[in-house]
Amino acid sequence: MNFEFTEEQIMIQQSARDYAQRELIKDVLERDAKAEFPTQHVKALAELGFMGMLVDPKYDGGGMDTVSYVLAMEEISKIDSSVSVIMSVNNSLVCYGIEAFGSEEQKEKWLKPLARGEKIGAFLLSEPEAGSDATSQRTTAIDMGDHYLVNGVKNWITNGNSASTYILIAQTNPEKKHKGINAFLVDRHSPGISLGPHEDKMGMRSSDTHSVMFTDVIVPKENRIGEDGFGFKFAMKTLEGGRIGIASQALGIAQGAYERALKYSMERKAFGTEIFNHQSIAFKLAEMHTRIEAARYFCLKSAWLKDQGQPYGTASAMAKYWAAETAMYVTTEAVQIHGGYGYVREYHVERLMREAKLTQIYEGTSEIQLVIISRAIMSEL
Ligand code: CAA
Repeated sequence: MNFEFTEEQIMIQQSARDYAQRELIKDVLERDAKAEFPTQHVKALAELGFMGMLVDPKYDGGGMDTVSYVLAMEEISKIDSSVSVIMSVNNSLVCYGIEAFGSEEQKEKWLKPLARGEKIGAFLLSEPEAGSDATSQRTTAIDMGDHYLVNGVKNWITNGNSASTYILIAQTNPEKKHKGINAFLVDRHSPGISLGPHEDKMGMRSSDTHSVMFTDVIVPKENRIGEDGFGFKFAMKTLEGGRIGIASQALGIAQGAYERALKYSMERKAFGTEIFNHQSIAFKLAEMHTRIEAARYFCLKSAWLKDQGQPYGTASAMAKYWAAETAMYVTTEAVQIHGGYGYVREYHVERLMREAKLTQIYEGTSEIQLVIISRAIMSEL
């Protein structure tokens, strides 16, 4: 077993760290307050090759491995998860979905601009009544012979407005239940698509989240990904990798909050000494550090399995579950260590706590990860 990173992985980690610590940090509080989309940062990440970092260079991607992706996601998320979620959805849901399951023509047309970071993608699975219960798709894509006709509503769509490319999951044959679901590539500017307002979120406020309405939207036949009825499996397979991204995001949030709490505890004095010297604080930091280290191993293990071509669905569910729970635990403790200062924006930890909450909810709630893990245990009995 080798726990060392390669030189290339360390370089990628350093490049993400440099950008986050030098540039992202400057305006993160302002963007959070104004819920302002980080246009210039997404452009800069594209120039660094991070928007399509996992895509094969023959489709204009960075050709980096999933371990490097975990390292980069952690560094960006230590400072700003609004930016890292845009990067994660583009990489592991949209680019991966097209690269793994799309046709050559679809890769040429749709994947290349996404991999170069010229366009942004969004993944439209959730609906008002189909969040965790993803098989209950109500959006329909009716086969009209030479095209599909789409009607319905999607909810909580990250990059809903900023994306030009949508991967849409919709029901074509309701009588076949989940086996009638398809996945489609859709131009966001197609006639009949309209957006709900920017959701005023508790955290990750500067990434754009919208409802998306489809009214008689025409989707060409050639835009379907895979065989007829492959859409649900497509979504599940794609989410397996997406969860590595969000687990790494949660890891970064936790690490960022821990580092701030540690620094504060070395500077702040109470009862005649730095508060780190009080066991009540030192034990908190030890617990935070240990939980984070475990989350890091889960993230890297699932990434390594993916890079080796081995099954990683259960490992990524474990990583997502543990890292999200850890992020919530660690950020709450970081606020506690800061006392009153933790409750004001300037010290960042309250923002990290708000961001952590979302990692327990999206790309499958913590409870959904436990469903996946418990089913895997049962299948092994
Ligand atoms: N890989 C391949 N196939 C899979 C699979 C996987 N990981 N998981 C399930 N399937 C297949 C099953 O084999 C089954 O196929 P067959 O009928 O051919 O045997 C089919 O899918 C149905 O599976 P289940 O019976 O297990 O389905 P279920 O209704 O019990 O649900 C679930 C399973 C895991 C709970 C799933 O619904 C789920 O993951 N829900 C959460 C959805 C989610 O993560 N949403 C996030 C939205 S995207 C997002 O947040 C992005 C963003 O913007 C940030």
